[in-house]
Amino acid sequence: MTPDRVRGRLWAVVPAAGSGSRFGGEVPKQYLAVDGQPLLAHTLQALLAHPNLEGAVVVLAEGDAHWAGWSTFAGKPLLTCVGGRARADSVLAGLAALPDSVRMDDFVLVHDAARPNLRAADLDQLLERGRNDPVGAILASPVRDTLKRAGDDGGIDCTEPRERLWRALTPQLFRRLQLARALEAAREAGVDVTDESMAMERQGLRPLLVEGAEDNFKITTPADLARFEFVLSQR
Ligand code: C5P
Repeated sequence: MTPDRVRGRLWAVVPAAGSGSRFGGEVPKQYLAVDGQPLLAHTLQALLAHPNLEGAVVVLAEGDAHWAGWSTFAGKPLLTCVGGRARADSVLAGLAALPDSVRMDDFVLVHDAARPNLRAADLDQLLERGRNDPVGAILASPVRDTLKRAGDDGGIDCTEPRERLWRALTPQLFRRLQLARALEAAREAGVDVTDESMAMERQGLRPLLVEGAEDNFKITTPADLARFEFVLSQR
């Protein structure tokens, strides 16, 4: 297998089936207009601009009325499928919707639709290091704030040591079949995994942490959206 052949098959799954209930408002956050384009378009642009990416599966909510119907983006194929109740269900649907050209032991990227500020250099690092790891890798950034554990009354019970604590970001890079099996196992156990790595860790696997920029943030609140608008104005 030549490196080029390996490179050519890299696909991404982009879960975009969330209702964005924490954000509020009528329009799901992935469709909010930023600089004349839906947030999702900024995310797809950041991902698919990378030369190693061949295409992406966008996972949509059932009956999504906002999807623009793209079948290509940045000159690359875009497929869609319908997601599920939890994020892990959506990612599982996306993995199943990948084209047959993506083999079961190929690496696949999973990247949040609501994380538009991915740097090309971070994606480079993730691919470079993650593909050399037997399990795969995630972008992450070290915790820099002091962490407090709250009691029921809102008072501070204690301070948690932050050494070796990281914030998990996306993209996350795992092998197609291994990730699907890990997500299915979590679902069968009734465990609500909040990222793909957590499902892999439950299998006793140890994905690699690849440090990425802290400004690869997820849009969760209106303040995050304002931050992204500011980032765009500075580009
Ligand atoms: O809700 P949260 O911000 O953690 O969602 C992260 C990503 O997962 C978002 O892009 C959201 O659209 C997606 N998601 C999904 N299916 C769900 C829940 C979330 O595709 N059931």
